[in-house]
Amino acid sequence: MEFPATDKALATVLRGIPGLVFALFFAAIIYIPTRRDHEIRLEKLRLEARKAKDQTEATSKPNSKTDLPHPPPLKASDHFNDRKHHLLLAATGSVATIKLPNILASLAHHPNLSIRVLVTPSACSFLQSQSPEQPSLASLLVLPNVEAIYRDEDEWIVPWTRGAPILHIELRRWADLMVVAPLSANSLAKISLGLSSDLVSSVIRAWDATGLIDEPRPGVALPYGEDRDRKGILVAPAMNTAMWNHPATIRHMATLEEWSVGKGGWIEVLRPIEKDLACGDMGGGAMKEWKDIVGVIEKRLGLTGDEEYVAVDGKK
Ligand SMILES: Cc1cc2nc3c(=O)[nH]c(=O)nc-3n(C[C@H](O)[C@H](O)[C@H](O)COP(=O)(O)O)c2cc1C
Ligand SMILES: *[C@@H]1O[C@H](CO)[C@@H](O)[C@H](O)[C@H]1NC(C)=O
Repeated sequence: MEFPATDKALATVLRGIPGLVFALFFAAIIYIPTRRDHEIRLEKLRLEARKAKDQTEATSKPNSKTDLPHPPPLKASDHFNDRKHHLLLAATGSVATIKLPNILASLAHHPNLSIRVLVTPSACSFLQSQSPEQPSLASLLVLPNVEAIYRDEDEWIVPWTRGAPILHIELRRWADLMVVAPLSANSLAKISLGLSSDLVSSVIRAWDATGLIDEPRPGVALPYGEDRDRKGILVAPAMNTAMWNHPATIRHMATLEEWSVGKGGWIEVLRPIEKDLACGDMGGGAMKEWKDIVGVIEKRLGLTGDEEYVAVDGKK
């Protein structure tokens, strides 16, 4: 008896089934564990990424423990006629940042001084109340004359809209004298190259190098110029001896020298001193003694009552 063609085809298919089942079974044996391995590997990667993210968050917000408040928006024009001397005091990431509390405390007795403090993220790390000489930044806000402490994130507390004040510009307009003490090797390099990647370097980059933009304030002598009519930036570099002796430093310092108040510019450098450094090396690069820095600040702002003008670089 002849089977019809369709039945023949059906028989072929039926005969193929065990082979197909076997092939599927074999594929599953190989595929399922491979897939499980793949998922385990993915989950491991996800965990690692989460751990890394937590770690960077912890280190990039070193000051989160201190609850430093965001200062209110600043409009320099609101303070133009306050008859106070305006000191913008910045600290960048150096061991000498721990002198900031001393500097602020010894300027606290002046009745006509107003201070705004700037800190880089790295400078924040040195003042987290980790030791008695390293109080939190927030604790410095109670010192007399300290109006506010600004960090990078304060540029963007209120999302900017047209007409709103821009923090680094308002700080520049507000300041009679900007002091960077300590000035780290990194921030020195940034200044000399014109980089402006954080709040401190943005203020410095937006400085009125011509002396023609910011109006002199009535009744307030400015730190520089024959007629005490020029604002300026006073910097106190502080770094490891090897960093100080590095050819990059020599190049960057030469640039600051070109822009120095002695040459009609806007920068005054308080050169480092030689001593045993906190890192164990001995040699140049240590920040000038903080008491001497306070003395220079008082002289430049005219806070001593002794109004004799001492030209920069120690020359009368
Ligand atoms: C404990 C410690 C001490 C440091 N001391 C100095 C220093 O005295 N001078 C310096 O230029 N850099 C020093 N550094 C390196 C700077 O903090 C680092 O270069 C940082 O990027 C500087 O950033 P800033 O200029 O934005 O503050 C130190 C780093 C650490 C961790
Ligand atoms: C602030 O006080 C000092 C010291 O008494 C004085 O020399 C200076 O002129 C005062 N500055 C202003 C702007 O009144």
